[in-house]
Amino acid sequence: MSGTTRWPDGFSEAARRCRRCVVLTGAGISAESGLVTFRGMQGLWEDFNPLDYATPEAFERDPAKVWNWYQWRRDKLPLVEPNPGHLAIAELEGLFPEFLLVTQNVDGLHQRAGSRRLVELHGNIGRNKCSLCSALTQAGPATGEVPPRCGCGGLLRPDVVWFGEALPQEAMASAWEASRAADLFFSVGTSGLVQPAASLPVAAKQNGAYLVEVNPEPTPLAQMSDLALAEPAGQAMPAVAWEVRRLRNGKLL
Ligand code: OAD
Repeated sequence: MSGTTRWPDGFSEAARRCRRCVVLTGAGISAESGLVTFRGMQGLWEDFNPLDYATPEAFERDPAKVWNWYQWRRDKLPLVEPNPGHLAIAELEGLFPEFLLVTQNVDGLHQRAGSRRLVELHGNIGRNKCSLCSALTQAGPATGEVPPRCGCGGLLRPDVVWFGEALPQEAMASAWEASRAADLFFSVGTSGLVQPAASLPVAAKQNGAYLVEVNPEPTPLAQMSDLALAEPAGQAMPAVAWEVRRLRNGKLL
């Protein structure tokens, strides 16, 4: 839907009245920046079994293999830029009295686009965590030992959530609270297959939010959405931001 297309009345009404907006994002928002998603054709999980790369057991079995895989993904980040989808979401933050961006992504592109009110459900690949003392540090340039060690002697690992691990409690609590209270909720670029993130839009909808999904491919969430935009996020989200800005006329209401 472009800026000049007529938006459904329900969307216009919801965007005009909205006091609490939540945006949930997944790997699809970063696809147009050149980062591959996890599922689907050419997705990361097609070539790499998550059980060999994204579990605590995999790290225990072969820490160097897991470390090198994340280092390979880290090395791509300085080569990519936030895309118009990230930038539009950063703009939405300033258009509502209350706003929370909940991301499953670990790539830091939302922050680079200017988003500030956000929680990361799956950690951030730009940080390391000591597997022994849990101290957090910024990931630095590669050193001799793979993986490098913490001052305490423990092996460093990326500060991301692996399968079988709990999500960061505070981030999850904020995400639940904001989603349940939201009156407008956008689910952008996520397959909606991974819990608990996949339940956030459902909770929002059950509590009366107007639910918008942005995904070029059909997902289970499309059926319960009030508006499903089957377009790439880099196209849909700038149009959404443009329309919201027009409808709200610069007022936070
Ligand atoms: P997925 O790879 O499961 O899904 C990405 C979604 O983005 C798919 O539904 C695509 O159709 C959609 N997509 C692709 N290009 C798009 C575009 N340009 N604009 C909008 N949508 C687009 O990624 P997530 O849903 O983020 O967890 O996956 C959730 C979690 O599963 C990830 O955080 C990761 C993974 O295993 C961990 O590693 C813990």
